[in-house]
Amino acid sequence: MNDTVAGTQGYGVEADALAEQYESVTFEEVHGALLHLYPASPVRALDLGAGTGRDAAALARLGHTVTAVEPTAELRLHGERLHADTALTWLDDALPDLPVLAGRGERFGLILLTAVWMHLDAAERARGMRTVAALLAPGGTLAMTVRSGPVPSGRRMFDVPEDETVALAEAAGLRVAHRGGRADLHGRPGVRWSELVFSAP
Ligand SMILES: C[S@@+](CC[C@H](N)C(=O)[O-])C[C@H]1O[C@@H](n2cnc3c(N)ncnc32)[C@H](O)[C@@H]1O
Repeated sequence: MNDTVAGTQGYGVEADALAEQYESVTFEEVHGALLHLYPASPVRALDLGAGTGRDAAALARLGHTVTAVEPTAELRLHGERLHADTALTWLDDALPDLPVLAGRGERFGLILLTAVWMHLDAAERARGMRTVAALLAPGGTLAMTVRSGPVPSGRRMFDVPEDETVALAEAAGLRVAHRGGRADLHGRPGVRWSELVFSAP
């Protein structure tokens, strides 16, 4: 699917190096300040733009039933190989409409959007938020980590105002559960991460 998904620009050709980078940090390091907001008992969980499945596999080890959506075939193949011993459902699908996932009729108690949202332009973000909110089960949690700062060459990335994300989520019926930020775990100059968690009614 990645030939037709603008947000994945640059990921396929760099997949081997990126796989190493993504797996060099842990789920706990990436999500540390947010973990207490994630469901404690097993739920159906969705990792959107899962990359190599680092977080999806960690969620599965915690007992959740996990779907990993990744449109870049090269990253998905790394993920299927690296986490072959973990029960994950991998799907080739993409925001903003997630047509494959939408056709399955599932709802999720936890949705992760980690380092993905800034790849969508404004119109895609508006559509994407409606898509994602509709996938949440009642009381479900949506956790978003959004990058700002310099754009790596060859990538398609936008500056996403945090207020816009909050407004889109609220317009889709979600409530803010956490709003914060953190430094870059890889120490890249000027890179910052906004962390947002939302709850479904
Ligand atoms: C920086 S990587 C993050 C991967 C993973 N979530 C992590 O934290 O390691 C961004 C991911 O978003 C995916 N992506 C880009 N555009 C997308 C879209 N429109 N829908 C879904 N995923 C997308 C890319 O293929 C890539 O795997």
